[in-house]
Amino acid sequence: TQLSYEETIRRAQGSMERFPLKNVNGVPLMCYIADNWDSISAFCPDPSDLLIATYPKAGTTWTQEIVDLLLNNGDAEACKRAPIVERIPFLEICSPPPIPSGLDLLKKMSPPRVIKTHLPFQLVPEGFWKNKCKVIYVARNAKDNLVSYYHFDRMNFTQPEPGPWEEYLNKFMKGEVGWGSWYDHVKGYWREREKRNILYLFYEDMKENPRREVERIMRYLGLSLSDDVIERIVQLTSFKIMKDNPMVNYTFIPDFVFDQSISPFMRKGEVGDWTNHFTPAQSQLFDEDYARQMKGEDIPFRTNI
Ligand code: A3P
Repeated sequence: TQLSYEETIRRAQGSMERFPLKNVNGVPLMCYIADNWDSISAFCPDPSDLLIATYPKAGTTWTQEIVDLLLNNGDAEACKRAPIVERIPFLEICSPPPIPSGLDLLKKMSPPRVIKTHLPFQLVPEGFWKNKCKVIYVARNAKDNLVSYYHFDRMNFTQPEPGPWEEYLNKFMKGEVGWGSWYDHVKGYWREREKRNILYLFYEDMKENPRREVERIMRYLGLSLSDDVIERIVQLTSFKIMKDNPMVNYTFIPDFVFDQSISPFMRKGEVGDWTNHFTPAQSQLFDEDYARQMKGEDIPFRTNI
């Protein structure tokens, strides 16, 4: 029999039991998402709604905070009105508290809304494309994305236990983690970006020149803000400031759900941390598999920085 979310959380707290994954059209999703799939896929946005789509740990929260600040003309106080999960609902999180249900929040908000998703392109509700919603996609290089996801799964009791590093590495390559294959995810949005007018960004570009990327997002949203405001947004969304901002650093989630003593949500915020995790042999194996899975793709990932 299916456990309730609260009961599963309670057990996870006591015994480290985790939510299992369930397949939805070939993509492994957490069971509580899979069990609510009909209502999630039926969600129909307003044409004015904006979607921020990412593979988990690619820089979602960073992009969300940039977008909210842009829409609020750089007003830091306005962007502290609520935790990021309430300002920008997470579409497919469809479960009772402590993580608020995306669909419930969306019902209470009037458009234009900003919505977060980790769904791969093919699972995004059709209404987003029918209504020609704007979509911002952020991709992060595979190795850093994997490292970040590994540490997140260690501390996040709503996801399956990651197991030892090497085991997780293999699961990631096979796409046997929440929201499925990183490879399919980045490819799916890339192939559709022109047809669907998707703004496709890279975490590494944001690190290299945050101002340039903030301006790119601003233009995509059809905004024109002053230099001072743009500069303020860049400062307010630096890793250092966001790490200490209780409205974005996920300390608002109870520690039996996100145990930040295991690994903080705002962990390192760097490019290249994978070098501290992969052995040379693992890196070689990963690169060979990467070449196979990304063969013929022209996505400009900059993996050697
Ligand atoms: P690390 O685990 O490598 O530190 P998401 O928001 O998609 O869950 O992604 C979380 C990752 O983005 C974490 O990566 C986190 O530290 C990083 N991150 C969050 N805010 C950031 C910022 N302002 N600048 C750079 N990285 C940031």
